[in-house]
Amino acid sequence: MDQPLSDIFADIRSYLEYLKRMGVTELPIADKKTEKIYSAEGSTHVGAIGESPQTYPIKKFSQASAASLAEIRNELGNCQRCKLHKTRQTIVFGEGNAKAKLMLIGEGPGYDEDAQGKPFVGRAGQLLTKILQSIEIQREQVYITNTIKCRPPQNRNPEPDEIANCHPFLLKQIQVIGPEIICALGTFAAQTLLSTDAKITALRGKFYDLSGIRVIPTYHPAYLLRNPEKKRDVWEDMKQIAKALADNER
Ligand code: URA
Repeated sequence: MDQPLSDIFADIRSYLEYLKRMGVTELPIADKKTEKIYSAEGSTHVGAIGESPQTYPIKKFSQASAASLAEIRNELGNCQRCKLHKTRQTIVFGEGNAKAKLMLIGEGPGYDEDAQGKPFVGRAGQLLTKILQSIEIQREQVYITNTIKCRPPQNRNPEPDEIANCHPFLLKQIQVIGPEIICALGTFAAQTLLSTDAKITALRGKFYDLSGIRVIPTYHPAYLLRNPEKKRDVWEDMKQIAKALADNER
């Protein structure tokens, strides 16, 4: 059925308001190239809900067996399980609402996070705060953490052994918090949680099942800082999150 024109206008209006909040003051004129970029059609993906879910091979998350976040932090201790301990300033464990319905998982701490011991406090973090506000969610309502808890030198990509050492702690955090939805920010979070090497462009914007928790990957805010034209895709993904949370409220 065709969408009524009033709905289309309302959608355009809310998207423009979102862009304004994101600090966009000019709009590019669409050309063939951008049309192509905006089209997610035809992308391949693995394990989307309703298709053939690919879940990480762990037991279904259960609150009953969950430790507390403080216990997990204690177990992590002054972690020296991988080489990143030699160069980090601080372990960035995560912060936010321990009973959050929405959990956001990024890649790993950057310079500011390493200095302050908190996730997503630099430029990408400020953008993340705005993105959340665009769906009327405040940072205090969610729980934010990273795939790896220590900053890699010069912000290089996390290496497989670093991800593997941190992964059990991330899974425990997820287990304790028991969110309804996890938003995986960027390639490393999405690939690690979904146990896939598919590209973020193929993975984003769809819900996947992680042992009963819905996981939706989207682009990393740092990537958006470099590629602002991708903010539209993130807006679409955020709207899906808002809708899924609202549907669960009913
Ligand atoms: N990028 C991330 O992935 N995590 C942070 O905490 C900050 C920047």
